[in-house]
Amino acid sequence: MADEQTQTQDGAGAGTTQDTLSVTDNRTGESFELEITDGTVKAMDFRQMKVNEDDFGLMTYDPAFTNTAHCRSEIGFIDGDNGILEYRGYSIEQLCEHSNYLETAYLLIHGDLPTREQYDAWAFDITHHTFIHENIKKFVEGFRYDAHPMGMLEATVGALSTFYPESKDIDDERQRYISAVRMIAKMPTLAAFAYRHSLGLPFIYPDNDLDYPSNFLSMLFKMTEQKYEPDERLTRALDNLFILHADHEQNCSTAAVRGVGSSRVDPYSAVAAGVAALYGPLHGGANEAALQMLDRIGTVENIPDFLEGVKNKDERLVGFGHRVYKNYDPRARIIKQNVDEVFEVTGKNPKLEIAVELEKRALDDEYFTSRKLYPNVDFYSGLIYEALNLPRDMFTVIFAIPRTSGWIAQWLEMVDDEEQKIARPRQIYQGYRELEYTPMDQRSEGEPHQKPSTPLSPEASAPA
Ligand code: ACO
Repeated sequence: MADEQTQTQDGAGAGTTQDTLSVTDNRTGESFELEITDGTVKAMDFRQMKVNEDDFGLMTYDPAFTNTAHCRSEIGFIDGDNGILEYRGYSIEQLCEHSNYLETAYLLIHGDLPTREQYDAWAFDITHHTFIHENIKKFVEGFRYDAHPMGMLEATVGALSTFYPESKDIDDERQRYISAVRMIAKMPTLAAFAYRHSLGLPFIYPDNDLDYPSNFLSMLFKMTEQKYEPDERLTRALDNLFILHADHEQNCSTAAVRGVGSSRVDPYSAVAAGVAALYGPLHGGANEAALQMLDRIGTVENIPDFLEGVKNKDERLVGFGHRVYKNYDPRARIIKQNVDEVFEVTGKNPKLEIAVELEKRALDDEYFTSRKLYPNVDFYSGLIYEALNLPRDMFTVIFAIPRTSGWIAQWLEMVDDEEQKIARPRQIYQGYRELEYTPMDQRSEGEPHQKPSTPLSPEASAPA
């Protein structure tokens, strides 16, 4: 239901089920009527288009899924032209103003905001599952001192599945719920342990008296004090970052969680796949690159030269542009508002002045405006993480903490979706077929061993 509404609001689909697409296959002269539903046609409807009885049928080709909806979802909505992001229908602006990350996680997972009683029970459950098995601690200790914390997180989340083998029963509601709670609760602990291990510092156990972001900061930074008491402005900024990163519909890591989860593996293994996808520099790593860019620019006076380099395509303005947002990324707008508050506590980072001026000049420049390039979430978030004293290789880890609730919400939706099966894309096979095996002692370097007994023909490349 929400799906139909959002598609129509988006302008992506006219929306009535009578809509059809007429297709004529010029190879055969046959015509077909395909149903248009929610602004989409079914790829499987093309399979009936064949040149003869033996033909496999027409497939669609869409590397990187740039124009393929792989699911129906009621979780996250993005309107890239107007810079809108909503979770379950609530704008991120409202959530950042009135909610907190734990309530937002409840919203994503359960589909609606909790009553006071439901929230208290949820917060209690999350707070009481933050500890990890002592053997996981030993597992973390086994990494080299300079192991990347994201690699440690990926491995430890995956390892949790061996500690909770009952989670494999994904049809059991109770198992699903407890796995969701465990992952949301333990992710900050795993992240903080990875951080402390990289510094050679003792691990700090969770403190159940603290709220979710404060407990995370405590596990990261507590030293000899009896009680860690973070500045409220810092925890609020971190909590807002958690809200803003909680979900972003069918991005690379979410698609990975859904794809791996479609094999009906346990949710810890599916989420580990999400962490692995987020580890990649094209996904979770841009905020670090944005800081490196600001470092390289060095002073406000160097901005014009830098922008010339960008326009000449010698450089990229990192933290600008987005595949979906062709307007100001709504997350960037909120983060920018938080930056001042954080710097009130930590003192100003000179890079902020460069970032603000860079944004101003880029938004005044035809090169960027004509390409609809605006700041994205990564332009300012790195400045906050840096202000919190976090090393750059922790930035992606901090992204993974809140994204866990989005991943789990999407996983839960996927396992209950009767239209879903194991994800199994097709390919256009372009290699040889039916080669004669050449014994090793008859092969020589530089000489091709691939001597087809039958030449590659279009028929030979049809999928089996
Ligand atoms: N700086 C300079 N020029 C840019 C930038 C940029 N950041 N982004 C896009 N352009 C230009 C391209 O060169 C291209 O110009 P052309 O028409 O003259 O060839 C045009 O704008 C369109 O760009 P595409 O590359 O087609 O846009 P696409 O949607 O494929 O890329 C992306 C989106 C990858 C985010 C891109 O904007 C980019 O590289 N940005 C910098 C990296 C970054 O900030 N990534 C974080 C994204 S948010 C996230 O993942 C959480």
